[in-house]
Amino acid sequence: MEQQTAKKTFKKNPILGTKFTIAISSAKGGVGKSTFATNIALALNKIGCKVGLLDADIYGPSLPKLFSINTKPESDGKTLKPINKYNIQCMSIGFLTEEQTPMIWRGPMVTSAIKTFTQKVSWNNLDFIIVDMPPGTGDTQLTFSQEIKMDGVIIVSTPQELALQDVKRGIKMFDKLGVNIIGLVDNMSYFTGDDGKKYHIFGEGGVQKTAQEFKKEFLGEIPINSEIGKQGDLGKPIVEKDPDHIISKIFLSLAKKIKSFYY
Ligand SMILES: Nc1ncnc2c1ncn2[C@@H]1O[C@H](COP(=O)(O)OP(=O)(O)OP(=O)(O)O)[C@@H](O)[C@H]1O
Ligand SMILES: [Mg+2]
Repeated sequence: MEQQTAKKTFKKNPILGTKFTIAISSAKGGVGKSTFATNIALALNKIGCKVGLLDADIYGPSLPKLFSINTKPESDGKTLKPINKYNIQCMSIGFLTEEQTPMIWRGPMVTSAIKTFTQKVSWNNLDFIIVDMPPGTGDTQLTFSQEIKMDGVIIVSTPQELALQDVKRGIKMFDKLGVNIIGLVDNMSYFTGDDGKKYHIFGEGGVQKTAQEFKKEFLGEIPINSEIGKQGDLGKPIVEKDPDHIISKIFLSLAKKIKSFYY
């Protein structure tokens, strides 16, 4: 007799008002996900796309600081209006709380916040929504993978073994959940000294090797540059502040590559 398995199926809902949903992830913390998410959103906008930025890091939102946003979103009682900054439609839990208030929430509350941000925000006519994921392989990653229609994930990592160990776990999770991994980015890949030499502070080639190992595309490398952190702290990411900077040019060429996968 055929056995019936009680397999739970999830309905994948697209985020209304947007064509393509792309998450920026990495199971490891502090490798530059938020930096990448903000700069790639700006770069996609600069090459002609309408872009939204959703900060899905409920416990540690970065967008209010990185985009210097300290206003609250308007609401009509049913939906929240994204805040427009640098021509990007933005949403973050940090817009709704005080800067230093810790979010002491259990998993189900995080899941419901994610659903509000994906279903109850009036995203308007976007080509891309860039989702800045928290570190780890937890509730947020699971909710997005199972219940929200994602068109791709970009994995950001530093070339350090310690980071790559977690990243491999992240890749396996998305593979298992059937989420398309667009490719891997090597962030903080090297530092160029005053002598013009490249110093591979966190090791060399690790991200590219991991991409090969898992048969994923290697999208490119972003070197260590002090301007990245400085501009982020000032609330104007480098692509916005200085579009001609060598780092901004890297983001612009990565944006062209990403756009070409969809258009
Ligand atoms: N290429 C780079 N060169 C120099 N500094 C960088 C670079 N990329 C990121 N940083 C800095 O590294 C720190 C961590 O970056 P970021 O907050 O983007 O990481 P994250 O992966 O989003 O962290 P979390 O896991 O906590 O969300 C920040 O201070 C940022 O300015
Ligand atoms: Mg972050």
